[in-house]
Amino acid sequence: MKNITTRIATIAATLVVTAPLLLADARADENYRARAFAMMEKDFSGKGQATVDRIQADGLQTICNRTGNKPPAEITKQLEADQAAGIKFPADGKLMGNWKEGEKIAQSGTGFTWNDERGAPPGGNCYNCHQLAPKELSFGTVGPSLYQFGKLRGNTVEMQQYVYKKIFNSKAFNVCSEMPRFGHIGALEPERIKHLVALILDPESPVNK
Ligand code: HEC
Repeated sequence: MKNITTRIATIAATLVVTAPLLLADARADENYRARAFAMMEKDFSGKGQATVDRIQADGLQTICNRTGNKPPAEITKQLEADQAAGIKFPADGKLMGNWKEGEKIAQSGTGFTWNDERGAPPGGNCYNCHQLAPKELSFGTVGPSLYQFGKLRGNTVEMQQYVYKKIFNSKAFNVCSEMPRFGHIGALEPERIKHLVALILDPESPVNK
């Protein structure tokens, strides 16, 4: 009996000591978030089509930001399903376009900046995060290399669907993915996503040579 009482007393004492610390931590977190946001707002001045509202996080991004990109497992599947539900497919139902067009889109990093022509179709910027083909002078490594993706994973209907959906909305598969949701944000329309699917899966594409 004495043992239990001592234990309860110890737990209560621990709570009394740690609760204010946890609360202070949470407040410090909020404080940092607010300061980081104020800093971004100050440094990023809107100009032309590049307006400041783009630094506002949507609901999903807020969940990812607040959970260190690890939302509770029990809601992750639902969040991914919500993202998948918004994916739109090409009117003709075909998912393979022309890899040559896809290459132009993948290697273009223009679009949405204040000095880009308003309304000009933006590039896919894929090279900034992925290796695509050996002739590239430089590429980023935030994402995995896609060199030989089609050769290794196969150009099946299932794979075409996966690549199409991944480009349309990467968060349908990986809820806090760092890859932009190209279709979801309206940067790439279904017709242009098809060209990128061909770039990645067509056996004739330099990605698969
Ligand atoms: C800001 C960086 C970034 C950009 C830009 C980007 N991606 Fe990604 N991509 C990633 C990351 C990180 C992953 C791996 C994590 C994940 O799956 O979400 C990934 C994963 C992928 C995958 C799945 C790979 C696999 O093994 O299943 C494909 C396909 C892909 N990207 C294609 C593209 C294409 C096409 C573009 C251009 C339209 C593009 N990505 C632009 C970061 C990026």
